[in-house]
Amino acid sequence: MKSLTLLASLFALASSALAQSTAPQYGQCGGQSWTGATICPSGWSCTYSNPYYSQCLPGAATTTVSSITGGGGGSSSSPTSTSTSSAASGTTTLQAGYSFIRAVEDPNFHKYLQSETLNTPSTAVLGSPSTAGQFEITNGQLIYNANGTTPLYAVVEGRANSTVMKLGMSWSTTPASGANAGTFMWSGDTLEWSIPTITRPALNAWLVCPDAADNLLLYINLGPYDYQTPTGCADETIHAYTGATATP
Ligand SMILES: *[C@@H]1O[C@H](CO)[C@@H](O)[C@H](O)[C@H]1NC(C)=O
Ligand SMILES: *[C@@H]1O[C@H](CO)[C@@H](O)[C@H](O)[C@H]1NC(C)=O
Repeated sequence: MKSLTLLASLFALASSALAQSTAPQYGQCGGQSWTGATICPSGWSCTYSNPYYSQCLPGAATTTVSSITGGGGGSSSSPTSTSTSSAASGTTTLQAGYSFIRAVEDPNFHKYLQSETLNTPSTAVLGSPSTAGQFEITNGQLIYNANGTTPLYAVVEGRANSTVMKLGMSWSTTPASGANAGTFMWSGDTLEWSIPTITRPALNAWLVCPDAADNLLLYINLGPYDYQTPTGCADETIHAYTGATATP
């Protein structure tokens, strides 16, 4: 079976090289300076390994065989999810053009970006798949499709002084503007943020710091990734996930 899987991924690699739309099974799908395919075959998810490498690994829910027959070939858009698959735990289905955003490392494995008070302007947190938000980036703004009618925009707090090494983020009905408005962007499936006034060693570095009520508050980490971690926080990178529903 192992060699069959290897053969299948080699074949998928070959067909993907032509199609450039879907990364092969076990293939690279993200990382700093990665310019190739960032979408994994249906049933596979792009899994963070280190800042330079993310890889398509079998998804937690179901495994499909579609890519063995070169499923991604010829299609220029994202693979549509094969609807018959898993019993989803998320309550909502992903809208076209949006992504879930989640952490993929303990202690926050498959916790999803959302607002502390659900679908309402409030602090950005990671939380349960069943309440996962859906997001897109337009003109450097990270936009939360909160309730289908009123979009919410990610707003990062200003840096009070150079000793401040983490910046909180919240959701607002008003887009970020002025000196504190940075730029959100994808690097592969990895969410990054930059701002001209702050030099960051790792644009994809985030921190998750639980508050007294155990909300998992999300911060931009202005320091190095996985080094000099502030007390009470965990280093994370966060990633787009485009499965039909948010899987645990
Ligand atoms: C959507 O959220 C906004 C902002 O919280 C709120 O003003 C609006 O009433 C909500 N709309 C629906 C249909 O829930
Ligand atoms: C920097 O700002 C933080 C947060 O506002 C504050 O607690 C701290 O005292 C300030 N430090 C200096 C050196 O100004």
